[in-house]
Amino acid sequence: MQIRVVGEPSSVADGAAREVIRQVTERPDSVLGLATGATPEGLYRELVKAYRRGRVSFARVSTFNLDEYVGLPAGHPASYHHYMERHLLAYVDVDPLHVHIPNGQAPDVDQECRRYEEQLRRAGYVDLQILGLGRNGHIGFNEPGTPFGSLTHRVALAETTREANRVHFPAGQEPPREAITMGIRSIMQARRILVLATGEAKAEAVAAAVLGPVTEQVPASILQLHPSVTWWLDEAAASLL
Ligand code: GLP
Repeated sequence: MQIRVVGEPSSVADGAAREVIRQVTERPDSVLGLATGATPEGLYRELVKAYRRGRVSFARVSTFNLDEYVGLPAGHPASYHHYMERHLLAYVDVDPLHVHIPNGQAPDVDQECRRYEEQLRRAGYVDLQILGLGRNGHIGFNEPGTPFGSLTHRVALAETTREANRVHFPAGQEPPREAITMGIRSIMQARRILVLATGEAKAEAVAAAVLGPVTEQVPASILQLHPSVTWWLDEAAASLL
């Protein structure tokens, strides 16, 4: 694995954006795996800028998002559908038919998980996967204890995860208790992975994932076994390495 430590979050965004642009330039019909959360917002801003300057086109790209809350309508401000529109999709030329995000409102959630995994398989899995990192080492919504062999599945969110994400919900509204997430095995199929982490709150999770034993208690530790991972970290997130 490669570890890139840069001074600040904006340099993490720049570095990751350069890699995404290179991927899409070399292979215009790439499958990109997209993440949500505060961390990749800067990356998406850079991609929108590059698109507006004519440096990249996403017209032939397909995208697969990692996860979505169960029960939130796509238009809810905290849904990941809404997040992706707001931060990237509304401003670039991705074909809406090539955008894949789990449907958190599907009447049969387990069937939706199977459908999503099958769609991913048919697309040939992800060429370049963007990952953020939960404070407890989760990737996507794969909480500690998730089997490494898991495919897209339904999860009960850890209380700490619900707390960390509460800021994205309108005051007084409870974050959902469940989500759909690509599994660890689905994520590990990606040919190349970029993990982004910024800020001191991620330092322990980064150290456990990079230096600690490979264990289901730290989902991101599995990335030690992937042949092509780059960690893009700011100094605060890298402070315990
Ligand atoms: C959520 C998402 C993860 C993301 C994590 C960290 O739990 N499901 O994909 O990596 O938040 O978010 P943030 O970047 O806001 O710290």
